Amino acid sequence: MRLAVISLLALAVLSACKSTTNDSTTTAKDAAWPKQMQNMAQDVKKLLPFLYDREAYRDPKNRDEIRSYLREFSQVAHHINPEKGKPFIGDDLLLEYSLSNLKDDLTRASKSFDAGQYEYSRLAAKASLSHCFQCHSVTQAGGKAGWDLEQVHNLGLQPLEKADLLVATRKYDKALAYMEGLLNSPEFLQNHAFDFESLLRRYLALIIRVENAPQRALKELDKILERGATPHYIAEQANGWRQSLTAWAKEKKQPIRNAKDLFAQVDSRFKKAAAIQHFEKDHAGDVEYLRATAALHEGMKLLKAPADQARALYMLGRAYEVLDELGSWNLHESYYEACALKDPKSSLAERCFGRLEASLYMGYSGSAGTNLPLEERARLKNLKDQMQRGTATH
Ligand code: HEC
Repeated sequence: MRLAVISLLALAVLSACKSTTNDSTTTAKDAAWPKQMQNMAQDVKKLLPFLYDREAYRDPKNRDEIRSYLREFSQVAHHINPEKGKPFIGDDLLLEYSLSNLKDDLTRASKSFDAGQYEYSRLAAKASLSHCFQCHSVTQAGGKAGWDLEQVHNLGLQPLEKADLLVATRKYDKALAYMEGLLNSPEFLQNHAFDFESLLRRYLALIIRVENAPQRALKELDKILERGATPHYIAEQANGWRQSLTAWAKEKKQPIRNAKDLFAQVDSRFKKAAAIQHFEKDHAGDVEYLRATAALHEGMKLLKAPADQARALYMLGRAYEVLDELGSWNLHESYYEACALKDPKSSLAERCFGRLEASLYMGYSGSAGTNLPLEERARLKNLKDQMQRGTATH
């Protein structure tokens, strides 16, 4: 994962200035976004009967079929042009990041399959689906897959996997209803205690960013909390969420027309979050952070000045640093890096660099102390060099 991010960064930085590069695969890259998405969904459908069945995946009689599906899926993903996603999600870094991770996972799945590492390949292919969630949990705008999960029988999915697949295919109504059913089921909490929190956080992301529905979230949270069986630390976070949602339900909708509107709203979300949180990465402020990310992903396209863009990237980094575990461990680091390059001579760039450095050191510290791998050291040094040379990227 960490390695994937390094290569991505090079890509994200390049892409900031690319648009003019010649590409031999122009026709494929020009295909409409919804069409390419539908093609990916078709590939997912073909792979599904094998993906969640270890034995079927390694069975020699399925080998040719799986190999060709994996290749096809990987090719489709590699031909998607993130630029085309911008009308739906304004924030190009999120688009680049998710697509690039998706491509990396699929390349890995395909290569390891060819090398006979079937279980590794299966896990990589499964992991690739979390990137569908990443983008699809930001906006509902657009279509849904042309097929239903019920059409594929005997999948043996774990609850969390099923919820993710419903979002991958953009069947939001079904996804939310399914998640609510699970969250209200005492058996789910008992048998999948570990997944309960993950599911609750994903539910929250969807209901806030995709559905914009504070009332519905409140109702669900109340039911969950009233049951009294929720682990204490989750109930404590959920109290913070209730506080945010209650205030939100009473709010008048405020339009975001320009940079000033955007930052006023985002700053106010951050202040509210900090007031609810008891410590820096406390999840109790997540509703505020999720709303801040929604405003920023959307509002990014309004920003023209590098200083404003850098500020938005920094805020996204801060929010995602708290919101981790939404299937995007290192997303915040990419935002800090992009921020440092956006307006490289500014004091904000220094701050972004500092937060990236701190996050990397945290990520690699263990009982034996901190041991930052060479690539990561090089990454920091490289970034510093670019900042010193740099003028603002556009
Ligand atoms: C880079 C972000 C991103 C990733 C990664 C991504 N999607 Fe999408 N997807 C979108 C956006 C934005 C839309 C809404 C626009 C649209 O409908 O095409 C969408 C729409 C779709 C649609 C509806 C297309 C239509 O006809 O309107 C399907 C189906 C879909 N995605 C499937 C998938 C699957 C399956 C995956 C994972 C293998 C995936 N997507 C990964 C961003 C993404």
